[in-house]
Amino acid sequence: MNQDAIGVFDSGMGGLTAVKVLNEIMPNENIIYFGDTARIPYGTRSRQTIQRYTKEDIAFLRRHPVKMIIAACGTVSSMLGADSPVDDMPFTGVVYPAARAACQATQNGRIGIIGTPATVSSGSYETAIHNIDPSKDVTAMACPLFVHLVEYGYTDRNNPITRLAAEEYLAPIRSAEVDTLILGCTHYPIIADTIADIMGDGVQLISASEEAAKYAKQCLEEQDLLTDSTQHGHNVYYVSDSVSMFRENARHFLMDAVNGQVFSSRI
Ligand code: DGL
Repeated sequence: MNQDAIGVFDSGMGGLTAVKVLNEIMPNENIIYFGDTARIPYGTRSRQTIQRYTKEDIAFLRRHPVKMIIAACGTVSSMLGADSPVDDMPFTGVVYPAARAACQATQNGRIGIIGTPATVSSGSYETAIHNIDPSKDVTAMACPLFVHLVEYGYTDRNNPITRLAAEEYLAPIRSAEVDTLILGCTHYPIIADTIADIMGDGVQLISASEEAAKYAKQCLEEQDLLTDSTQHGHNVYYVSDSVSMFRENARHFLMDAVNGQVFSSRI
């Protein structure tokens, strides 16, 4: 048993989609979240810059009592090398958990991936899928506008701008006749309904956020690091930009008011 918190970070608010699932499946756990809201987006930056930001984000979380770190960001996860960036506690990104779930879910062996430009050009999800099963057919598309549409609240299922962008981005994925689509960026679950409408009933969506949260639970269970099951977990949020902006926008991601204290902090 270990009562330290689970540390979660993202370039901004997308990682809250993982926090939401963590709270649902491990209500006893404390969460410390860092959102680098002053520097979002990461997904259009160079590998070197994203890797530098990642080191700083992890160093920030490590200044707090954490027992595991989750990079709840498809872009950060895609820029990690083969070695874990922390060697003294469990760590996960979102790529492997989502790739594993997609390989289990697909019936026809055709998997689609959508993510930020940095994620898609890294080929991270393809590599992870082919490490699990080289026979899987993969089609990936970068969707650069999605993060901005979500950040600015264009998230209603029938929002015409988001729908138009989604139709454009998803056309090659539909042509590839995938039966499984990885939402490879942690912002995308917020517009999952729109994406599902365009992909049609026969396509199963895999949320990288949700799969990372489930994988984290598995790691903590396996290493006997879950907390006392009688305690009620608390969330604490740190952001590198305005607290009030975070509180306002976080509602879209948590589907509720922010459930914890929020602090603005330099990293
Ligand atoms: N949440 C990030 C991801 O999952 C997208 C936002 C960004 O570009 O920083 O890739």
